[in-house]
Amino acid sequence: MKVLVTGAAGFIGFYTSKVLLSKGHQVVGLDNINDYYDVNLKYSRLKELGISKTEAAEYNTLCQSHSEDFTFVRINLEDREELPKLFKNEKFDIVCNLAAQAGVRYSIENPETYVDSNLVGFLNILECCRNNAIKHFVYASSSSVYGMNKKIPFSTDDNVDYPISLYAATKKSNELMAHTYSHLFKIPTTGLRFFTVYGPWGRPDMAMFLFTDAIVKDKPIKVFNHGKMERDFTYIDDIVEGVVRIIEKSPSNRIESQEYYKLYNIGNNNSVKLLDFIKEIEINLGKVATKDMMEMQPGDVVRTWADVDELIKDYDYSPNTSIKDGVKSFIDWFKDYYN
Ligand SMILES: NC(=O)c1ccc[n+]([C@@H]2O[C@H](COP(=O)([O-])OP(=O)(O)OC[C@H]3O[C@@H](n4cnc5c(N)ncnc54)[C@H](O)[C@@H]3O)[C@@H](O)[C@H]2O)c1
Repeated sequence: MKVLVTGAAGFIGFYTSKVLLSKGHQVVGLDNINDYYDVNLKYSRLKELGISKTEAAEYNTLCQSHSEDFTFVRINLEDREELPKLFKNEKFDIVCNLAAQAGVRYSIENPETYVDSNLVGFLNILECCRNNAIKHFVYASSSSVYGMNKKIPFSTDDNVDYPISLYAATKKSNELMAHTYSHLFKIPTTGLRFFTVYGPWGRPDMAMFLFTDAIVKDKPIKVFNHGKMERDFTYIDDIVEGVVRIIEKSPSNRIESQEYYKLYNIGNNNSVKLLDFIKEIEINLGKVATKDMMEMQPGDVVRTWADVDELIKDYDYSPNTSIKDGVKSFIDWFKDYYN
């Protein structure tokens, strides 16, 4: 199949592209390589996919990897001129939209970026899917849509009408927009609410990376809500296995039953205490963190926990990486990548 993966220079998009390529699919990766975090990490991921920094940096220029199965193009999702041309020329079967402005805390200071990438950009992608008879549109939502949901584990049947950050509001909006396009234009869409993804090549703005980096540099780590937080940490390989299963399975049975719109949680189905997570990092680094205990951050939630029964039932999804193994893989990569 020919798959467009947006956000291909990002953490999850990079892995998704890699696994799709290893399974013999043709992948076109798209990213605007913005500087929300270290762009060199984004270029290094693309290098792993066979694209050099000089090639990738050019705007709207298709570059081919040595294997020829991977093509990369730097385009903004907001670009209403070039995005439709790309769709017309490349004739994708499937679109996997992982490009977005991520991060809960950043959305409080930079709301416009979220509207540009996550709302305007998302609409442009939907329009391209509509105009190019895309067979299946798979996109990233987030566990943050659950806001202060008290009922655990979080189920896709729970009410998510009360987001507490603009980031969450844009992700919830994506689900609503996808529903509308599924209904009006009969496009099979599948939304995935990701739960705190971590692992090698992970994002520098997320806890795993921030903690490791600070501990290595003998700097204190900021522990919000005095450590009284829990997250359904999900290892990148488990996430990508789920994403690829969804991409590979034809939605034909859904078309027959007119079930064009689908939504799943994708997590580890387990909630880990933040302080236990930090302990695991300390064990792997052989160093104890200096912890600055802080108040809860605006926009943050105390606990996340994914109910993934639907994904198990429909896709035989089986996350199996323990925190112990996952944290070790990240630390091994971190030491190697940053010498
Ligand atoms: N990592 C997590 O724990 C997590 C949790 C919940 C949801 N998500 C969602 O999963 C998706 C992937 O997340 P990630 O962790 O890989 O993030 P990431 O920031 O590493 O990747 C996103 C990529 O999209 C690109 N991008 C952003 N805006 C763009 C635009 N307007 N046009 C083109 N490219 C653009 C960025 O340059 C980046 O490389 C995102 O939609 C994110 O919101 C991630």
